[in-house]
Amino acid sequence: RLPVTLPSLLEKQRLGEPIVMVTAYDYPSARAADRAGVDLVLVGDSGAMTVLGYESTVAVTLDELLVLARATRRGLQTPFLVGDLPFGSYEVSDEQAVQTAFRFVKEAGCDAVKLEGGGETSVTRARAIVKAGIPVMGHVGLTPQTATALGGYKAQGKSAGDAVKIAREAIALQEAGCFSIVFEAIPSAVTEAIMPRMEIPVIGIGAGPATDGQVLVFHDLLGIREGRGAKFVQRYGDLLDEMAAGVAAYADDVRTHRYPGPEHGYAIEVSELAEFRA
Ligand code: KIV
Ligand code: NA
Repeated sequence: RLPVTLPSLLEKQRLGEPIVMVTAYDYPSARAADRAGVDLVLVGDSGAMTVLGYESTVAVTLDELLVLARATRRGLQTPFLVGDLPFGSYEVSDEQAVQTAFRFVKEAGCDAVKLEGGGETSVTRARAIVKAGIPVMGHVGLTPQTATALGGYKAQGKSAGDAVKIAREAIALQEAGCFSIVFEAIPSAVTEAIMPRMEIPVIGIGAGPATDGQVLVFHDLLGIREGRGAKFVQRYGDLLDEMAAGVAAYADDVRTHRYPGPEHGYAIEVSELAEFRA
């Protein structure tokens, strides 16, 4: 398989071949994504919740996400790797945004970065990072870093006014030079209405089937989490249940002396043992 590049993504979009993106946060999730042949891997700040156990994505630090990004990089060969800029790491100034983006590229080997929001600040930061030579992915609709301001984790663009706002933001991010954009949790019909205005690949999550591609959170799609998750999640496994069952079986074997067995032990020459004992 050839490495995924910006031109190869645009070619997929032109041919109408769905683009597949998934999140990853460490070496094994990256290996799974790589072996599955996905196009894009996102080191999402959702890792704050999925692997670091935070209540939301707000608290995770840049240094924490860079650790996850480096581990993910080591597990990837062909997918295009996008690093998610955490809350507070890009809003303050263009300089801050560019510096943060450089860290994802230089320290973690990311190919691009993603930032949330399509208001004036996000659009300006996106333009600054693109100017510095780093590809940027936009993200509109439900933007979890500012979920409190949006009124919680819920679908966006459900009124005509909100839908227009999302459309304007998406177009502004496209004009700022973003190479792609995520639409999260917006009505399918709103996505469909915006798509004719979009030239860059649109990756949807809870945005219906009209986008150029889809993204899901690794731990959601594989069931490595407790609770049901959002309406748009499709589960392809129940791995947390399998992990817990595996550890429980091991614990049971230890407690009942079924593990370790003779086949798990190391041998020593009889003569050496005799000498050792003497
Ligand atoms: O952090 C994340 O997982 C994301 C995707 C859902 C797009 O931003
Ligand atoms: Na994110």
